[in-house]
Amino acid sequence: MHLPSLLQALAWACSAVAQTYPATVEFDVVFPRNETYAPTTLMPLVFAFRNSPAWIPLIPLLEWSIRILPTGEFVDYGATDLAWGINTTTDPYFKFVSSQALTVEGNYMLVWTLAYGNCTADPYSDFEILDIDYLHVNDTTNHTSFSIAKGAQAVDLAAASSSCPAQQGMALNVTTALKVGVTEEWKRRDVCGVLAHQQPSPKPCALQLDTAAASSIAAALTASACSAPHPRYTGPCPPKPTQSTSAGTRTRGFATARLTSSAGIAVLIIHALVFIGLVCSF
Ligand SMILES: *[C@@H]1O[C@H](CO)[C@@H](O)[C@H](O)[C@H]1NC(C)=O
Ligand SMILES: *[C@@H]1O[C@H](CO)[C@@H](O)[C@H](O)[C@H]1NC(C)=O
Ligand SMILES: *[C@@H]1O[C@H](CO)[C@@H](O)[C@H](O)[C@H]1NC(C)=O
Ligand SMILES: *[C@@H]1O[C@H](CO)[C@@H](O)[C@H](O)[C@H]1NC(C)=O
Ligand SMILES: *[C@@H]1O[C@H](CO)[C@@H](O)[C@H](O)[C@H]1NC(C)=O
Ligand SMILES: *[C@@H]1O[C@H](CO)[C@@H](O)[C@H](O)[C@H]1NC(C)=O
Repeated sequence: MHLPSLLQALAWACSAVAQTYPATVEFDVVFPRNETYAPTTLMPLVFAFRNSPAWIPLIPLLEWSIRILPTGEFVDYGATDLAWGINTTTDPYFKFVSSQALTVEGNYMLVWTLAYGNCTADPYSDFEILDIDYLHVNDTTNHTSFSIAKGAQAVDLAAASSSCPAQQGMALNVTTALKVGVTEEWKRRDVCGVLAHQQPSPKPCALQLDTAAASSIAAALTASACSAPHPRYTGPCPPKPTQSTSAGTRTRGFATARLTSSAGIAVLIIHALVFIGLVCSF
């Protein structure tokens, strides 16, 4: 057995132990709410992934757009590939971005589409080995509306951490996770979720978002708006935005891929421990 496949086997065993199925996962839209806000150059868009470890085999991809009503014209849009982007040590995991485009009064719609895997067991394999024929992606789209008007309440994310911080959600029942054989075809993830036919009802009101977490999201968005190359953001900035927080986070994208050539055995073992530690961290 090659070391990389040994690592993958260990990682698989570890993640299989760490997460049991069936598991209900939920995606919630936290902000903006169905409210009216003053024009702003920093509108937080906050989404929650609940039961974050069980989202991993679904390798979600989130797309969003903001459209002005009644024409539906796009004022902003974005997409985030969360195949490797969900931090499973945090549950719920909050994905947040901001829009600087909500400076004009009007009625708006935040439209989101969440794509997620839904795999089929290979009937001809004894080992759950999947290839592209058995990897499927399904998606769900919905929208929520809000308004921008002069004199309305200023955007205040921390104030949104009420007893019911989310207003809209979507739940999925992950019945099991299958081992993926050709991981290149599945964004290098080695598991793919199997979804039930019927999905549970979402419970967005059950989401927990305390004031500290909301404030920390707001601070991160402000810091990032302040350090943007051509900021349209006109609000106050922190004295010195810290640059160090995101630099060390890219290493988890497969230590194993680099292990094939000249590295010594000690390096291999360290990589293995780090890798297993990351996988086992949920
Ligand atoms: C996608 O999900 C919807 C909603 O659960 C379901 O009705 C539909 O059958 C699914 N499509 C595929 C191709 O699995
Ligand atoms: C809240 O949602 C309803 C239904 O989508 C919409 O008609 C209304 O304009 C929204 N309220 C605000 C303040 O955007
Ligand atoms: C869209 O969200 C609303 C609640 O905001 C919900 O009632 C509706 O069922 C959702 N539609 C889909 C297709 O999920
Ligand atoms: C999820 O699906 C499994 C298998 O079909 C079922 O036993 C379980 O009750 C479902 N869970 C929920 C919350 O619907
Ligand atoms: C997942 O795929 C199965 C068939 O393999 C289908 O019955 C089910 O409806 C799908 N569920 C979703 C949410 O896509
Ligand atoms: C995941 O979240 C934990 C706890 O908030 C944090 O310490 C860690 O740095 C995060 N990891 C990544 C890869 O962002």
